[in-house]
Amino acid sequence: MGEVSTATFTLEPIPTHPVRSVLLYIAMEAEAVGVADALGLSAPTLLHAHSSARRRDGVHQGIRIQLVTAGGDRLLAVDRIGTIPAALAVTHALDAHPFDLIINTGTAGSFLSRGAAIGDLLFARTVQFHDCRVPLPKFDALSRAFTQLSCNDAELHAITALLPARLGGFSTGSSFDATPEELAHFSREETLAKEMELGAIAIVARERSVPLIALKSVTDFVDGHEPNHEAFLKNLAFASEQLAIAMPKLLAWLSDPLRRREQFA
Ligand code: ADE
Repeated sequence: MGEVSTATFTLEPIPTHPVRSVLLYIAMEAEAVGVADALGLSAPTLLHAHSSARRRDGVHQGIRIQLVTAGGDRLLAVDRIGTIPAALAVTHALDAHPFDLIINTGTAGSFLSRGAAIGDLLFARTVQFHDCRVPLPKFDALSRAFTQLSCNDAELHAITALLPARLGGFSTGSSFDATPEELAHFSREETLAKEMELGAIAIVARERSVPLIALKSVTDFVDGHEPNHEAFLKNLAFASEQLAIAMPKLLAWLSDPLRRREQFA
């Protein structure tokens, strides 16, 4: 892959006042149903007339929540995972309503070499794309930019202790497997999570100046021996259950001004 220059972008910080509205993006239905139940959200409806994306709404702990999923492909009837449906759906949702915060949750691959276990919760400090190769001055920096998500260090430590979750760098790409060059890149960057949406949502969050945080649960090991897609299918339900347990705790923290003010002090 070779060395390329990179840039670092920083998203808006999460508001210091209690968070009152959250746009929650989850790519797959199987990842979303448990979270929707745990938060007491409505049955899904279409997000937008020209999109397969679906929305579920509700109020949880005083926070207006809109959970958006990618929805199924009309012909193949599988979830439209990946960056483009994620960016489109989040854009549609933000066009319709303002939100204090975007949360991207779902599942991810992680790394045995980083001590990860199936079902571990991973919280993002940064996100980068790992499969963009553009050897042109400044375009390389743009395509490989690190985006610093919205929590400060005190908040990151409070949230990761609360859930509990591991904290680190996320990497977004359009492939489920990884090339040898990508594996070398993950090890150089000490990547914690490999997934398929967060980088795209970070682009929208930066354009719209909306804070963004991300929490994912591990289904498979990028550096393991078991084929990733087999491990993913085997562990999807268990990993998704961990998200349903964690999300009310995360929302409670976001909605509690006293608890959060202690972190800002
Ligand atoms: N989501 C869950 N596991 C993944 C992997 N190994 N790569 C990309 N996205 C994933």
